[in-house]
Amino acid sequence: MTNQQALLQPIKMGDLELKNRVWMAPMTRSRAANPETKPFEIHEEYYRQRASSGLIITEGSQISEIGVGYINTPGIYSTDQVEGWKKVTRAVHEEGGHIFIQLWHVGRISHPDFHNGELPLAPSAINPGEKSYTYQGFKDTVTPKEMTLEDITQTIEDFKNGAKNAMEAGFDGVEIHSSNGYLLHQFFNATSNTRTDEYGGSVENRAKILFQVIDAIKEVMPENRIGVRLNPSLNGVFGMEADEETIPTFDYIISKLNDYNLAYLHLSEPFTDVSAIPFLVTNIAKRYRPIYKGTLVINSAFDQEKGNKVIEDGLADAVAFGKPFISNPDLVERFEANAELADWDKDTFYTPGEKGYTDYATLEEIKVG
Ligand SMILES: Cc1cc2nc3c(=O)[nH]c(=O)nc-3n(C[C@H](O)[C@H](O)[C@H](O)COP(=O)(O)O)c2cc1C
Repeated sequence: MTNQQALLQPIKMGDLELKNRVWMAPMTRSRAANPETKPFEIHEEYYRQRASSGLIITEGSQISEIGVGYINTPGIYSTDQVEGWKKVTRAVHEEGGHIFIQLWHVGRISHPDFHNGELPLAPSAINPGEKSYTYQGFKDTVTPKEMTLEDITQTIEDFKNGAKNAMEAGFDGVEIHSSNGYLLHQFFNATSNTRTDEYGGSVENRAKILFQVIDAIKEVMPENRIGVRLNPSLNGVFGMEADEETIPTFDYIISKLNDYNLAYLHLSEPFTDVSAIPFLVTNIAKRYRPIYKGTLVINSAFDQEKGNKVIEDGLADAVAFGKPFISNPDLVERFEANAELADWDKDTFYTPGEKGYTDYATLEEIKVG
């Protein structure tokens, strides 16, 4: 492979010129181990190391206290957190990179331990039957509180506030986390949303909150700096059970996203084998490329070869790499050199400190020894 590789070509996204199509997927790393759950120097170093990526999408960052569901994840709702993120965005920009923050509300994938004993919020009072990783280790999730209309209005406001804070912190944009079984995804799916009001029942009602979130965020930042993440065929993980209505719901959402001039749509191929489930889609890029008219970034289990191919085949404009970016801070340079990749250590995905976080070597460092 030469440097004519599709992945290494620049891409114009809205008014941003990104240097390549090797994007970094959002990944929770649980390093914000401080009472304010604010990013600090270690985050600055981690993201700086990965700034040759065309676009970094940060780890999910909670938009409110009630939006949290894991230990030591950073927030984007307080002044301390905004100050912490400023260091990160400055570092990435100094290296000539671009960075969006992922705005996150976990909904029911949480535990009362995070909320002074109060129940987590969700569209309906249905226990996802998952484990929550709390400060006292893994605990069973509980039946959440069904959100009132006021809770929903407040949550939309929290997303907007998160976006406003993101702008203040110097981010190039935001990605709305409406994926992987978290709050917004819980609204989309009829198995997690049994509401009988304007947010439940029909496809349009279940999708409504996403568009309200986008409309609210648009008030504080340009539409072409907003990305949306979806995982249509997610099934059997993160408490999410798909059904016959799932794909028609995503068909509706994705065609309606064409009404906006978004930065991008970020889709994941199925996280598990869904080939035996007749109502799910096995090839997400193939189904949605013809439907979505804007920039489409695809994710999940891509390597250099598959990444180049999906772009060459016209099925995506960019590829988001997750785990390969954990252990290869210079993933772009390794693709340029057709070099081998380092393996990731899953035991340090979520542990505090530098180990398994900022201590992966670049090719250059390995050569120097
Ligand atoms: C350690 C870890 C943390 C993750 N955290 C997030 C997250 O905060 N937000 C999100 O949307 N996806 C998250 N994901 C999913 C990744 O973005 C990506 O979809 C997944 O790793 C598959 O891509 P890959 O095969 O390139 O790793 C996480 C994945 C890993 C491995």
